[in-house]
Amino acid sequence: MTAGTRVLISSSQIAARVNELAAEIERDYTDGPLYLISVLKGSFIFVADLARAFRRLQVRIEFMAISSYGQGQTSSGQVKLTRDLDVPIEGHHILIVEDIIDSGVTLSYLKRLLEHRKPKSLAIATLLDKPEKRVQPVDVKYTGFRIPDEFVVGYGLDFAEDYRNLSDIRILD
Ligand code: IMP
Ligand code: MG
Repeated sequence: MTAGTRVLISSSQIAARVNELAAEIERDYTDGPLYLISVLKGSFIFVADLARAFRRLQVRIEFMAISSYGQGQTSSGQVKLTRDLDVPIEGHHILIVEDIIDSGVTLSYLKRLLEHRKPKSLAIATLLDKPEKRVQPVDVKYTGFRIPDEFVVGYGLDFAEDYRNLSDIRILD
């Protein structure tokens, strides 16, 4: 399962950074609930760990699904909403939780979509950022790791639906 891959970020490095992010987020929100909007499928492990790292803040978890990549390693540039939220977000603090930001196309689409629903606040947390590939600038408030322009898998991230269950983040060679 890990043949042809090499570790970029180990599970213990991820765990330490996720705890730091949760602490940082908790410092910024004095009133809850904070709605964590997990963008499926890639962020399902990140959101599960992040949510459990909060100590004080009232947190709720909701899911959306977006597809932009198809089966390949390069973005189609087309974003499709495949599953919407099933709760209104008007008047609530919203934190979009993503696995990775690459071109920025997905997150700028999502941000625009949710802004129209009049949340009390709207911010983005991403575990990984590949800044070299940015096509659309996006204001990301919380970033786990900035990584080089390599295709990565594991900890929720896939290549053609494989590798999501790996504990480390690995480069696919
Ligand atoms: P963007 O729209 O180009 O920013 O792409 C964001 C989406 O592409 C992410 O939510 C991922 O699903 C996918 N993606 C981008 N880079 C990678 C990668 O290195 N590994 C796995 N998925 C990726
Ligand atoms: Mg994704």
